[in-house]
Amino acid sequence: MCGIIGIVGVSSVAPRLVDALKRLEYRGYDSAGVAILEDGALTRRRAEGKLVNLEKRLVAEPMAGTIGIGHTRWATHGAPTERNAHPHATARLAVVHNGIIENFAELRTDLEADGYRFESDTDTEAVAQLVTRALDHGRTPVEAVRESLPKLKGAFALAILFAGENNLLVAARKGSPLAIGHGEGEMFLGSDAIALAPFTDTVSYLDEGDWAVLTRESVTIYDENGAQVTRAAQKSAGAAFLVSKGNHRHFMEKEIHEQPEVISHTLAHYLDFTRGRVRSENVPVDFARIDRLAISACGTAFYAASIGKYWFEQIARLPVDIDIASEFRYREMPLSKDTLALFVSQSGETADTLASLRYCKSQGLKIASIVNVKESTIARESDVIFPTLAGPEVGVASTKAFTCQLAVLAALAIAAGKARGTIDEKEEQRLVRHLSEIPRFANEVLRLSPQIEAVCRELMLVKHALYLGRGTSFPLAMEGALKLKEISYIHAEGYAAGELKHGPIALIDDTMPVIVIAPHDKLYEKTVSNMQEVAARGGRIILITDARGAKETGIKTLDTIVLPDMPDIIAPLIYALPVQMLAYYTAVFMGTDVDQPRNLAKSVTVE
Ligand code: AGP
Repeated sequence: MCGIIGIVGVSSVAPRLVDALKRLEYRGYDSAGVAILEDGALTRRRAEGKLVNLEKRLVAEPMAGTIGIGHTRWATHGAPTERNAHPHATARLAVVHNGIIENFAELRTDLEADGYRFESDTDTEAVAQLVTRALDHGRTPVEAVRESLPKLKGAFALAILFAGENNLLVAARKGSPLAIGHGEGEMFLGSDAIALAPFTDTVSYLDEGDWAVLTRESVTIYDENGAQVTRAAQKSAGAAFLVSKGNHRHFMEKEIHEQPEVISHTLAHYLDFTRGRVRSENVPVDFARIDRLAISACGTAFYAASIGKYWFEQIARLPVDIDIASEFRYREMPLSKDTLALFVSQSGETADTLASLRYCKSQGLKIASIVNVKESTIARESDVIFPTLAGPEVGVASTKAFTCQLAVLAALAIAAGKARGTIDEKEEQRLVRHLSEIPRFANEVLRLSPQIEAVCRELMLVKHALYLGRGTSFPLAMEGALKLKEISYIHAEGYAAGELKHGPIALIDDTMPVIVIAPHDKLYEKTVSNMQEVAARGGRIILITDARGAKETGIKTLDTIVLPDMPDIIAPLIYALPVQMLAYYTAVFMGTDVDQPRNLAKSVTVE
């Protein structure tokens, strides 16, 4: 997943391209580059690594010109080097690309046979050479693109700049998002509305297969059959994405501490705290007519959905199938028209999740999604959207989006229980009251950060860690392991506590800390037995529990983080906070790039 930007503008384009790329860095940051027309001549600047390296390059070697394209890369084909950095160019054009050209190898063989020489290892360069060959055969730039697009297989969002064409950009979209920004006497294109926010809030989104011709005065959009089409321009909330870290060291720290507020905003959208009921007007799904939920998501969103499964089944007695999106459509699960397909995604652009959505749509299912970006592709392709109101989440490691996803799932489980008659009004009021207490508990637990930070001075020294939990603490254990892995680079695994004795216990020794997530609920006693198995083998335990749990454990731990007693249903949201902080402070002590960890990107828009 990469970020692309194009501007056919009226002022110096280099700083504007960089400004947009800063907002797209969450999509990948292995390298960055721009291509600009300077008096009609195509010039490029590219740099390996973070965008700041390109900025330095541009200070040393400034560029003039008012039309250009830019790219920030998450490497798919070819190492993250300058040679493989976008834009890729020939003497006649430059192109930036988000996605994967699956048939690039055969295209390259064909083009090399025609004498075209490649300089990179990327799939994208095949696009540059293919369109160049069409130009060499006498096509105009627009004809060259129109002729080349059908030859590309895979997913792509493209922006192409042509030498000598000072008032023309051509863009295309197939499988990767692309937005058109309408300016005053200038036009823009970008991977999403966030990138376009500094320039315009009037945005139209290309549909699957669309391609577009942009000049300063106009944009002409064609569908995949070449017919001219219109895509409605809408006001974008993109400007809201202009965020800063405030007085926090990292976006992740800021976003961890925003959780009481954003969870409360999200809950208020679904729950009427005064009447103790779900706002049915914001849950436009008739759960009484649904016989099954098929939930599909990736990463942290998958772990949120896995917790939601317990709630739907326990509160609403609604059977739930849950799948990792990249596996879902290949297992060909029997689906009935009464199955509601539900997708959970912070970005709303995750290719695996989007592919699952399209698979369910092809099976005729109703599509619902829980997303944090209402203008995202997943949102736009859903019949029903359940927004999380977490605000922009910039840290690659998802935190506030996770707990807001849980808030939505809990509210929906209550709505489903009410609709299916498995809970009465009194129980609905009790559950809604418990959910309304989340922000207060969250604020209280965030005050434990100094203790948690101290624990991380130990955690930073280890090479491996295990996370254990039962019930809704099991998916939270998986999420905790993911958080630690992805930002501190310490290997970690999450397990169902009861599964430990079926193999993983062989790992236990005094070098393997075990983080146990265990509120004093109905499964606590069972988890204590697992802790005893760990302690008996010299394992070092970090226990996250409540006062009763701490008192009754009877086991010597490396450390015990004591949370307030709380209702079972809100425990996963509150216990998520120490889990997030353990990963955060460990990563800070290890000096890793907390907000943009190596090899990762915030939104994985390739399969
Ligand atoms: C979470 O910390 C990771 N960054 C990653 O697993 C993420 O949750 C996953 O890629 C799904 O992203 P989405 O929620 O935007 O679909």
